[in-house]
Amino acid sequence: PRLQVLASQEDVARQAAALLEARIRQGAARVLGLATGRTPLRVYALLSEAVRDGRLSLAGISTFNLDEYAGLSPDHPGSYRSYMNRHLFAGSDVDLARTHVPDGLAADPVAAGRDYEARIKAAGGIDLQLLGIGQNGHIGFNEPGSPFDSRTRMVPLAASTRAANAGDFPGGTVPERAITMGIGTILEAREIVLLACGPAKAEAVAAMIDGPVGPACPASALRLHPRVTVLCDAEAAARVA
Ligand code: F6R
Repeated sequence: PRLQVLASQEDVARQAAALLEARIRQGAARVLGLATGRTPLRVYALLSEAVRDGRLSLAGISTFNLDEYAGLSPDHPGSYRSYMNRHLFAGSDVDLARTHVPDGLAADPVAAGRDYEARIKAAGGIDLQLLGIGQNGHIGFNEPGSPFDSRTRMVPLAASTRAANAGDFPGGTVPERAITMGIGTILEAREIVLLACGPAKAEAVAAMIDGPVGPACPASALRLHPRVTVLCDAEAAARVA
């Protein structure tokens, strides 16, 4: 991957937003793969601002989110569908019919995974996939041990992942499972941009860049992809060789 170390989390967000905007304007990101979590929040705020100011349009863009919690309805405040609506879609001119998030309520998760893959394919594949990284090296909700050829499917969440996301479920419990794009799905994106900020990500970033390539660190799979940019703040990059 091309590693870019920036001074602050704000700089990471600005760089990521600038990259996304440039690709969208070039017509090189008609289909976006999107991540949730804390790291991309500021990126989505900057993109919404650009749309509001008339500098950017998401009107013709299709989006596919990486993952959704199992058992949550789209209007549950902790769901990733509601996160996307709140932080990006509602404040932009995106056509909601072109936005996709895996179905956390699917009665048949295997069919739902297959259907999600088919919808990605029908849209022409993902041009640009935005990623975060878990403290354990997960991408999407592909926890350590996930096969590199995995596809969209139901997975159990690691205890550390559930603990890290407990803040999104005040007074409740974090779901135990999620539907996530697989590592194989992610690797088919034409371009990938991974964001990592803060000291809690330092070990995962070092393992992704310098450690062995294998399922023990799901993000190490990105070393098999020809077009990956990793945008880090100084803290997240601190342990890279
Ligand atoms: C989110 C996702 C996860 C997060 C990761 C980092 O859709 O798939 O892999 O990107 O857990 O989360 P934050 O940014 O909250 O540290």
